[in-house]
Amino acid sequence: MLKSKIQTQEEIETYMKELKEWLESVKNATTEEMTDFFTKRINEYDNVHLTHWGKEYAHIADFFDNGLNSLLDIGCGTGLELESMYKRFPKVKVTGIDLSESMLNKLREKYRYKDISIIKADYFEYPFEENKFDAAMSFETLHHFKYQKKQKIYNKLYQTIKNGGYYIECDYIACCNEEETLCLEGYEYRRKKNNIPDDVFIHIDIPLTLEHQIELMKNAGFQTVDVLYQNGGTVIFKAKKQ
Ligand SMILES: C[S@@+](CC[C@H](N)C(=O)[O-])C[C@H]1O[C@@H](n2cnc3c(N)ncnc32)[C@H](O)[C@@H]1O
Repeated sequence: MLKSKIQTQEEIETYMKELKEWLESVKNATTEEMTDFFTKRINEYDNVHLTHWGKEYAHIADFFDNGLNSLLDIGCGTGLELESMYKRFPKVKVTGIDLSESMLNKLREKYRYKDISIIKADYFEYPFEENKFDAAMSFETLHHFKYQKKQKIYNKLYQTIKNGGYYIECDYIACCNEEETLCLEGYEYRRKKNNIPDDVFIHIDIPLTLEHQIELMKNAGFQTVDVLYQNGGTVIFKAKKQ
């Protein structure tokens, strides 16, 4: 099981200082469209992510309840999180949805013998069936979207999970309001400077605070939202539908 590590005030101050310097240094960097970003990095993607979140990928399945039969994975990418899910639940029926053809091709290769439905689509728009899945999950995909946009996906997740089911998310969370605000300002500045239309997804991190994340999940209808694990900016939530 994963053991949490909460940042001390001193660590947060050092982190914020470095973040401000970094945000300044990327202010005028090229802004990449979401699928282009992942296509360009497809060869190194798995190694880079496993280096950063290796233990979270290896243990994400520990947070699920026994008897999982059907699972929706939004922004599944190459399926790094599915490795531990299949280890614990070899027969689970997975539906994975992602925008990126190159990421999904890699996932197809890895899990060719599994009962997996792969959907290439935008999860904000895809019409998920009501009361379909025992559980849903997302891993490192939702921190590129603003509060209102995220509300839409939590509402949809709530609808598509069966009564008594749950949603597990592992994602990048802002340590404080200042981080949330600074990241969002940088994002808006770069969108405006590069004349990026509102409907184009870009790969820039805009994490929300823990408080805002929980608020979104509760607004969607989830009765309880628990923080199961925290390691700096990486947080795992479990939101239950009764
Ligand atoms: C950082 S990767 C995470 C992939 C995988 N969950 C993992 O942890 O390795 C983010 C993924 O989310 C996908 N994504 C981003 N926005 C999306 C959207 N609106 N609809 C579907 N997929 C999306 C990207 O294409 C990418 O594969």
